[in-house]
Amino acid sequence: MASIGNWSFIPLVSAFPTTVFPNIALWNVTNAVTDLTYQIEISWPFEWGSSPPEDVSNKTALTMYVVDGNALGMTASEGFKRRKPVASTQPDSVVVSIGYPLTDNVYALNRRVTDFRPPLPTPQVPPSGADPFIEFIDGALRPWVRSTVFPGVSFMRDALYGHSFGGLFVIYALISHPSMFDTFLSASPAITWNNGSIRDDVSSFSKLGNHGKKKCHDFKLGKGKSLTSQPAFVVSYGTLEQFPVKRRTETEEEYEARKAFYAPFKMTDYCKDLYRRLKGSCELRDVVLKEYAGQDHSSVGASALNDGIEYFVDW
Ligand SMILES: *[C@@H]1O[C@H](CO)[C@@H](O)[C@H](O)[C@H]1NC(C)=O
Ligand SMILES: *[C@@H]1O[C@H](CO)[C@@H](O)[C@H](O)[C@H]1NC(C)=O
Ligand SMILES: *[C@@H]1O[C@H](CO)[C@@H](O)[C@H](O)[C@H]1NC(C)=O
Repeated sequence: MASIGNWSFIPLVSAFPTTVFPNIALWNVTNAVTDLTYQIEISWPFEWGSSPPEDVSNKTALTMYVVDGNALGMTASEGFKRRKPVASTQPDSVVVSIGYPLTDNVYALNRRVTDFRPPLPTPQVPPSGADPFIEFIDGALRPWVRSTVFPGVSFMRDALYGHSFGGLFVIYALISHPSMFDTFLSASPAITWNNGSIRDDVSSFSKLGNHGKKKCHDFKLGKGKSLTSQPAFVVSYGTLEQFPVKRRTETEEEYEARKAFYAPFKMTDYCKDLYRRLKGSCELRDVVLKEYAGQDHSSVGASALNDGIEYFVDW
């Protein structure tokens, strides 16, 4: 059993039958002080063979970290595998999904609301857990993946993907730790949280008022800084989120209730607003706004992840 700081990495499923999942394993990652447990799922390329992955040597890999791993980890793993036959030059890629033990579903749902919640100047209920969560990923999880799970692999670029409240977390990670990931993928983010206050923080980060696009290039070249040393950012949303269409099977009341639920998210408006605040910023090498016509909050989670893989790999 490996440990880093207060975190212990306890094998949960070391190997599935190799005829089922030859390249997926799970761990309980538990903090001895806080008693918090994450359920971490890691998948690696078929070409690396079945477990233990420690045997892999002389490889290089991209890594995608996915929050809400219980809901999206398999989508990410399958996305990389499905893409390989249509993109034969795809680099080897590892998926690290960060989820929660499902022994107590309520606990898991509550926990994400803490982990993804950005800090505010005044205390909140539930408390903000985004900074400790970032510290866990950067200070314990990633070092363990690199040095213990795959000691024979040279790791290249990393991406972070999150959907919904996890999408808000990705925005917070970008503006608070822009050099932590190469690519930040935020799908249907809950920008509406705290009356959209993250938008002002995004503007402070992007410093668009300080230097326009042209000046930004001069500034960068003047400092001898490569344009591609900055992270890339994608924000995605579905048109049905802000503008739902009545389902065949829905009553008028159910439709009105659903519209009322989604209205405060103002998903189209807020995502476009976010894009305007970042486009042209010197702090990013690329910003993409991606709209999914006819998709709702749930389906964007999978579409943006698959397209996010394409975007992340293609640099
Ligand atoms: C994993 O963590 C959960 C939640 O703390 C616990 O119920 C379970 O027994 C743990 N499994 C192992 C193998 O440690
Ligand atoms: C890995 O590369 C080193 C140096 O090139 C070589 O000596 C070693 O045999 C390689 N290992 C494997 C398993 O290919
Ligand atoms: C929410 O933000 C808007 C501006 O974006 C502001 O006009 C409004 O007063 C704010 N509401 C609350 C409750 O803070």
